[in-house]
Amino acid sequence: MNLVIIKFLLFFFLFHSSIITSAVSNCPKSFECGSLGSLQFPLSNSTGCGLFTVDDCDSDNPTVQLEPGGQVFNISRNISTNSFLIKDHTLQVQLDNMSCFAFRNVSLPKSPSISFSVSSNLTMFACVNPNYIHDGEIFPENHRSYDCTLFIVYYGFPTAEVSPVPSDCQVIQLPVKPNYDQSSLENVFGLLTSEYILEWNVSENCSECHRGGGQCLTNNIGEFECKSADEKDIELFLKNNGNLAPKRYRYSDVKKFTKSFGESLGKGGYGSVYKGKLYDGRLVAVKMLDESKGNGDEFMNEVASISRTSHVNIVTLLGFCFEGSKRALIYEFMPNGSLEKFIQHSASSSSKEDVIILGWEKLFQIALGIARGLEYLHEGCNTRILHFDIKPHNILLDKDFNPKISDFGLAKLCPNRLSIVSMLVARGTIGYIAPEVFSRNFGEVSHKSDVYSYGMMILEIVGATKKNGPSKDVINADDTSSEVYFPQYIYKELELIDADLDGIIANNEDESEVITKRKLIIVGLWCIQIDPKDRPSMKKVLEMLEGKLENLQVPPKPYLSSPPRAPIFSISDQSM
Ligand SMILES: *[C@@H]1O[C@H](CO)[C@@H](O)[C@H](O)[C@H]1NC(C)=O
Ligand SMILES: *[C@@H]1O[C@H](CO)[C@@H](O)[C@H](O)[C@H]1NC(C)=O
Ligand SMILES: *[C@@H]1O[C@H](CO)[C@@H](O)[C@H](O)[C@H]1NC(C)=O
Ligand SMILES: *[C@@H]1O[C@H](CO)[C@@H](O)[C@H](O)[C@H]1NC(C)=O
Ligand SMILES: *[C@@H]1O[C@H](CO)[C@@H](O)[C@H](O)[C@H]1NC(C)=O
Ligand SMILES: *[C@@H]1O[C@H](CO)[C@@H](O)[C@H](O)[C@H]1NC(C)=O
Ligand SMILES: *[C@@H]1O[C@H](CO)[C@@H](O)[C@H](O)[C@H]1NC(C)=O
Ligand SMILES: *[C@@H]1O[C@H](CO)[C@@H](O)[C@H](O)[C@H]1NC(C)=O
Ligand SMILES: *[C@@H]1O[C@H](CO)[C@@H](O)[C@H](O)[C@H]1NC(C)=O
Repeated sequence: MNLVIIKFLLFFFLFHSSIITSAVSNCPKSFECGSLGSLQFPLSNSTGCGLFTVDDCDSDNPTVQLEPGGQVFNISRNISTNSFLIKDHTLQVQLDNMSCFAFRNVSLPKSPSISFSVSSNLTMFACVNPNYIHDGEIFPENHRSYDCTLFIVYYGFPTAEVSPVPSDCQVIQLPVKPNYDQSSLENVFGLLTSEYILEWNVSENCSECHRGGGQCLTNNIGEFECKSADEKDIELFLKNNGNLAPKRYRYSDVKKFTKSFGESLGKGGYGSVYKGKLYDGRLVAVKMLDESKGNGDEFMNEVASISRTSHVNIVTLLGFCFEGSKRALIYEFMPNGSLEKFIQHSASSSSKEDVIILGWEKLFQIALGIARGLEYLHEGCNTRILHFDIKPHNILLDKDFNPKISDFGLAKLCPNRLSIVSMLVARGTIGYIAPEVFSRNFGEVSHKSDVYSYGMMILEIVGATKKNGPSKDVINADDTSSEVYFPQYIYKELELIDADLDGIIANNEDESEVITKRKLIIVGLWCIQIDPKDRPSMKKVLEMLEGKLENLQVPPKPYLSSPPRAPIFSISDQSM
């Protein structure tokens, strides 16, 4: 499932941003190269794939380049899976012209991922001292010399062990004709060849990395580094969305911002949150994603979703860090924390007391703000964003208690306003998760699933659902047992809500408070209709909240009288 999201994101961004660059993940497994046949890793036909490239496959003279910007060689033919017979045009000219420029090493790049070699080569010595040839102690008798004026080249067959190499000599290795022998020594330019077998050897580290779908890299201190498949995807995503993506920071910066993660603000489903301060003095909340939960989906979801948003009721992502498994998201700091702590209705204290901390007007404004944020996610961006984890814990409050939706780790982006999404695993939090997300018997998963969570949340805000409900844990994708907690709990609460509605009217509480509370409850009830089609859109929710109470109808409650038929409801009571 999660892979599907990434694939989808990649496809989506590649397709829509038209920044089609070296798409590593789009590298073909193999490619046809004319007379050379089918070639594969470490070879590639485009930069960004493989370890070196083959070009001009459709011509009679395919070429190979061992590193970007490096020398281009003609390929005469393929010899084996790790060698080519190649032709070095430059060397050819030098040999033809008997030029001393020929006496330099063939330039073969070296990296921890791959090494190249010339299978048949002759070791020669280019020395400044012209007298070594007479000094049998350095170069043995069978060695010859060739005078290049500025230096003398010493060579022989077989090559003698010269140790130590005199300090005024350089060792050079040049391709040599395979059938050369003592008699060929007279003409050094005839001995050497510009057509030779180039071999390559991919390191064990890199082979393994490649097998795992990764990309072989060399870090800045020359060590091998494997960029895993999801890192590649994320990097690519960030590259293609550079204009959208917020500022990227190094891990060392993140450590500095948070004074080495000194002040914890809490722990969420996907990592710990720390307080920090940017270099410009702004306070931030830094969310470190758990390394263990690391296939990058949550990270990418969050960066991808939030980067596209800009709304007062959505938390602003100021930056992020992505260094291998070290992944951090840096948000504006919300001094009043999450809504959760303002709407806790503990069983011991009377619920009235806690709610009053914020006052009904403020709570109403908060509900309205969240609705605006959610409406924006559903309708306001080019891409519809479904949050899938709306709950008080994920609503943050700024200094004036304006609510901001946060935590987009489970979000999904839907192109073309496609409203129905496929979902193979339940995602969300018990108590807020919509029935259809749990079981397809209830309908299609869509933006209406967020509406449901919103409904449950505002019912909780008014204290209508509460107190002794089950613990609200983030659902573990493969923990199907959590199903049993879900439905009965809600059905019991609905009766309480009903009683609340009557109670409010009967008790003749402060009028504006009654109006507010009743409005929230009615809207909440509409939002938690079992059939997604019966739930209002967030736009409609806003209209209802902003409109007159008299215009609101109490939703039908058929489910209260007739117990649901779906099997998951028949599971017996779980000590609620
Ligand atoms: C590389 O080879 C693949 C597979 O044969 C092909 O689809 C692609 O167009 C080639 N790319 C270039 C730049 O030639
Ligand atoms: C080499 O050439 C042959 C045919 O000429 C082909 O079958 C083979 O796939 C080529 N590639 C390698 C790497 O051996
Ligand atoms: C490859 O060979 C062709 C034909 O001999 C020649 O024209 C071309 O310059 C060569 N390319 C390189 C890079 O040596
Ligand atoms: C090599 O020799 C050719 C003639 O054989 C000449 O035209 C060319 O300029 C020479 N090149 C160099 C680099 O000396
Ligand atoms: C020359 O040949 C030796 C022995 O086969 C090999 O170890 C060395 O790497 C070769 N040098 C180059 C530059 O290919
Ligand atoms: C040429 O290559 C050989 C073997 O790789 C190396 O030992 C030698 O230092 C190189 N010489 C120069 C001048 O770079
Ligand atoms: C390839 O390189 C590895 C070291 O990375 C070495 O152990 C192995 O012998 C090499 N294989 C060949 C065929 O040169
Ligand atoms: C393989 O990579 C690791 C780091 O990932 C490095 O420590 C090790 O030295 C590498 N091995 C070789 C043979 O390059
Ligand atoms: C909300 O935040 C403001 C600004 O930091 C602070 O003064 C106030 O005490 C906070 N209120 C509560 C209830 O935490």
